[in-house]
Amino acid sequence: MKKLVLLPLVALSMLAAAGPIEDEIVSRIHKVGEVCLMGEACASGQVVADAGGGEGRSPEAIYERSCNTCHGLGVAGAPKLGDVDQWAPRLEKGMDVLYASGINGLAPGMPAMGMCFDCSDDDIRAVVDYMTASVQ
Ligand code: HEC
Repeated sequence: MKKLVLLPLVALSMLAAAGPIEDEIVSRIHKVGEVCLMGEACASGQVVADAGGGEGRSPEAIYERSCNTCHGLGVAGAPKLGDVDQWAPRLEKGMDVLYASGINGLAPGMPAMGMCFDCSDDDIRAVVDYMTASVQ
């Protein structure tokens, strides 16, 4: 007898719970699908990803992201940022050679573009400027 009374109760409580859950699911889906264009009210106060020219593309940011792995600690003989002695013989080669090494790589340890695969040649030149400025 007890089961017969309980079953409809359970079913009822599930129905009651379905409302809020459904609302939540709808609101979650909604948020994901929301399109916010720059300049619209919904976009105000939000961080808009910068496609270029912004913070993430500064020579320092690129250095931190791509070059510091090796040049921060001097991995595989990479000249360390700010280490005057290690950079001295490289600076003697002239900036054009250093730019070319950054862009084309320098066997065996220095990978082409310093492993920054979305960098332009100019980005790399700017980062090389940033690195050499640290020892001048
Ligand atoms: C995987 C490790 C690694 C990464 C990442 C890396 N480098 Fe290097 N880099 C080296 C090594 C090793 C050398 C020394 C190569 C040699 O002299 O044999 C070097 C040398 C250089 C030199 C001196 C080249 C010369 O002609 O003397 C420049 C300039 C340079 N790297 C720029 C960069 C820049 C800019 C980045 C990031 C965009 C970068 N590197 C990322 C390992 C790395």
